[in-house]
Amino acid sequence: MGDRKVILSVKKYLIIPGNHDLRAWKGKNYVSSLLKSIFKRFILCRKLKLVKLYTQPSLGLTRLSNRCFVLNAEVISRIISEAKAMNNEVVRWRREIHSYPELGFQEVRTSKMVEEELKSLGYTTCKVAETGIVASVGSGEPVIGLRADMDALPIQEENDVPYKSKVPGRMHACGHDAHTAMLLGAAHIIKKLHDEGLIKGTTKLIFQPAEEIGTGAKAVVDSGAVDDVKAFFGIHVWPFLPAGIIGIKDGPFLASCDDFKVVVKGKGGHPSSPHEAIDPISVVIDIANAYMKVAGREIDPLQPVVISVTSIRAGNTYNIIPEEAIIEGTVRTLDREVRNYVIGRLKNIGKFYAEGMGCAFKFHLLQSMPPTVNDPGLGSIVREALQPLRVVEIPKPVMGSEDFSFYGNVGATYFVALGTGNEKKGTTYPNHHPRFNIDEDVLWVGVAAHTLFATYAAEKLE
Ligand code: NI
Repeated sequence: MGDRKVILSVKKYLIIPGNHDLRAWKGKNYVSSLLKSIFKRFILCRKLKLVKLYTQPSLGLTRLSNRCFVLNAEVISRIISEAKAMNNEVVRWRREIHSYPELGFQEVRTSKMVEEELKSLGYTTCKVAETGIVASVGSGEPVIGLRADMDALPIQEENDVPYKSKVPGRMHACGHDAHTAMLLGAAHIIKKLHDEGLIKGTTKLIFQPAEEIGTGAKAVVDSGAVDDVKAFFGIHVWPFLPAGIIGIKDGPFLASCDDFKVVVKGKGGHPSSPHEAIDPISVVIDIANAYMKVAGREIDPLQPVVISVTSIRAGNTYNIIPEEAIIEGTVRTLDREVRNYVIGRLKNIGKFYAEGMGCAFKFHLLQSMPPTVNDPGLGSIVREALQPLRVVEIPKPVMGSEDFSFYGNVGATYFVALGTGNEKKGTTYPNHHPRFNIDEDVLWVGVAAHTLFATYAAEKLE
């Protein structure tokens, strides 16, 4: 069959005067057989140009994309090519942010740059959580949230690159500069797709402060600016995966993180008369030993739990029983219920030992965030959305943590890893290393992934 003949016959099908919804016109069965026949012809002629005929929004055809992948083919190929075309611009933003790293809740320069760019694109922006920005485009439901974090770390950069950190002792050593730049890139494409009616509902872009100190996402959630978001997507650059490959995993992906501090107050005195004092040191030793037993004796062995006591401090010389002793440590789990149980047990066990020995007891949670659990329902959307990109399944959860998990208190969440490791370019150092860097050539993949998430999730969660 010649190409010309196919075009003519397809045109015959698609000229439907005065009707904008094929389903309303002939019923679902007719439409599905029509689409099947179009699809067959598409395969025969293999001309991408033809897809244009099927994706005219004015014919209402994009509404049927759930049933026929061909209908979205033009939008998909356009997202990929526009994302690729944005790579240089994204690299430029990333380097700019990289040169001026800012710690949590101090991202003034970064936030200003983001806000100006978004406003110039026509987004409605609002400031949240001190230095955060939430920008929205579109209207109505569903509301889909895309998140990038913006903060840096108190690390001295050891990379010798033209865009090296200009701020002593501060560095974007976790790739949040890239996250911000990729979401800005996606903002360009998403705005155009909304304007053309190719993305449904509302897309909210969340430029979040202070991930590294674990309180930024919570502050954004507490601001109420994302209350209406049904599904949140996040991307983290990942030096452990080859550059350009996206790693996904349903269910628990990253661990919870609860850093704790226990203060036991006794009564100071002379070590030759311990009966006149209340020794807090013997108490914290018992508490630390008891804490170590919780994971091994009280939790299902198939549930990963880490309880580490990392510091015991008390006294400063040999001839004084101190008044106070302090324990610090951390808890990691992959399950919200297990996490709550363990924290509860640490409080109760410590209180029991301390008060039983006549001491006062205080328990403080320092940094605290839930596990990052990827919603399996969103997982099927993510798999479909990422079809044009290279994707691998990550087999095991990672015991690191992310405050992205706080968005799980509002809606469904899905967090993916974007491989940026490239031996030849020296980008395989782990996150938080003074020589951490990324393969910038694959930033477009993150731009495309964000845009595909927004497009597909809005379609599927309608
Ligand atoms: Ni990070």
